[in-house]
Amino acid sequence: MMKNQHIKQKKRQIIVGMTGASGAAYGLRLIEQLVTADVMVHLLLSDAARVVLKQECDVCLPDDQAETVQALADAIHCPADSLRSYGTQDWFSPAASGSSGIEQMVVAPCSMGTLASIAHGMSDHLLERAADVMLKERKQLILMPRETPLSAIHLEHMLKLARLGVDIIPAMPGFYHRPKTMDELIDFMVSRVLDHLKVNNNIAQQWGMGV
Ligand SMILES: Cc1cc2nc3c(=O)[nH]c(=O)nc-3n(C[C@H](O)[C@H](O)[C@H](O)COP(=O)(O)O)c2cc1C
Repeated sequence: MMKNQHIKQKKRQIIVGMTGASGAAYGLRLIEQLVTADVMVHLLLSDAARVVLKQECDVCLPDDQAETVQALADAIHCPADSLRSYGTQDWFSPAASGSSGIEQMVVAPCSMGTLASIAHGMSDHLLERAADVMLKERKQLILMPRETPLSAIHLEHMLKLARLGVDIIPAMPGFYHRPKTMDELIDFMVSRVLDHLKVNNNIAQQWGMGV
């Protein structure tokens, strides 16, 4: 028997931030797909994200983090044991430090407020701090901004972050696959994020494979 046979492979870990931009369904579908792909998801929700989750998806989250995990797991019909949730001031969570070894983070959807905070290195809340850690450690940070129209301030922040290596994947679904439902539009965006994370998925058609 090989010596390391009993050493359990550590689960892949990804931080998912959700903010108060419209498009909470993108974040929920992303979390569901990551859990399905056997990823441990570290959830960071801004206060405004909770407001939008209720407004757009009828998902009401309690303040308690364990109850938040269960409520989200129920909403996306996934087991809760692959989810962790942290408060906005939980500075002892893995996301708060580069030494945690977490290599990837997505903010979906990303508000213009959080985009600005990340572009200016603010770390007032855990989500902003986690993004700052990704930048300083040169790890993968993906943002899915949503606003329209975009001001020069928004565009400048996106340009600044793109130049730092951040993947800017705006919530702008295409229509060339002739979507018939809202779910297809959501999956178009979420599959782009999963592709960039290098997480296998088949929730949307790939270009050249039937379009
Ligand atoms: C229903 C709803 C939809 C919103 N949509 C957007 C949006 O698409 N983009 C945006 O930047 N802000 C949007 N906002 C405003 C943000 O929630 C607000 O600026 C908040 O302060 C963002 O905080 P956060 O970045 O900490 O989540 C929306 C607010 C609500 C209640």
